[in-house]
Amino acid sequence: MNKVLLSPSILSANFCILGKEIKNVLKFGADMIHFDVMDNHYVPNLTFGPMVLKSIRDYNISSPIDVHIMAKPVDSLIPLFAKSGASIITIHPESTYHLNRTLDLIKENGCKVGVAINPAISIDFLDDIIDKLDIILIMSVDPGFSNQKFISNTYKKVQAVKKKILRSNRNISISVDGGIKFCHIYPLLKLGVNIFVIGSYIFRNSSYKSVIHKIKNSIIDFKNLVV
Ligand code: DX5
Ligand code: ZN
Repeated sequence: MNKVLLSPSILSANFCILGKEIKNVLKFGADMIHFDVMDNHYVPNLTFGPMVLKSIRDYNISSPIDVHIMAKPVDSLIPLFAKSGASIITIHPESTYHLNRTLDLIKENGCKVGVAINPAISIDFLDDIIDKLDIILIMSVDPGFSNQKFISNTYKKVQAVKKKILRSNRNISISVDGGIKFCHIYPLLKLGVNIFVIGSYIFRNSSYKSVIHKIKNSIIDFKNLVV
């Protein structure tokens, strides 16, 4: 089993003190950071670009950063985010005309390769490109905003994706992103999810320490049960 990782989505952080917010969640046990890029075209919201990512790296934040690009067209952004400090770049198949080329571009730029799958997108396309992937990120909300309601069809989708990964014989992480609260963690762990992207459930809590400990402890309990 891949290591289970907690990846807070900074979309819900306080942007006035972004560096401190990131250092805090990492201090209390987050494993990596999820950086949502939105363009007001592919999704109806606008967030941050490569300069903000670079300033996070310049602020001595060295954890892995998953740059989830919800922008179209996407190719020209990939080298910019790679140079600014992305560890993983995750893109949506509908944001490019030529998916193989875009995934190759991520790898050529030295980053791990992720694809994100929206709730109403069929997973058939995975068969054609699964050999290029390090991470499959399953969206459990339509992308664009934090604090939306978790779509329960996600469980079926995770199961179907897991089957495809097993058939491929490759070591690919499964990440879920959107609306995750405490009650979703255990069922997702059981289905094989190993990266939890969580925004508002962490950043809207008055104690990052206690909410992160609660999540991490449930992951430890699950592992103890399985072993
Ligand atoms: C939604 C983003 C998510 C979002 C998650 O489009 O991709 O990463 O920030 O936030 P919560 O956990 O609040 O849904
Ligand atoms: Zn995201």
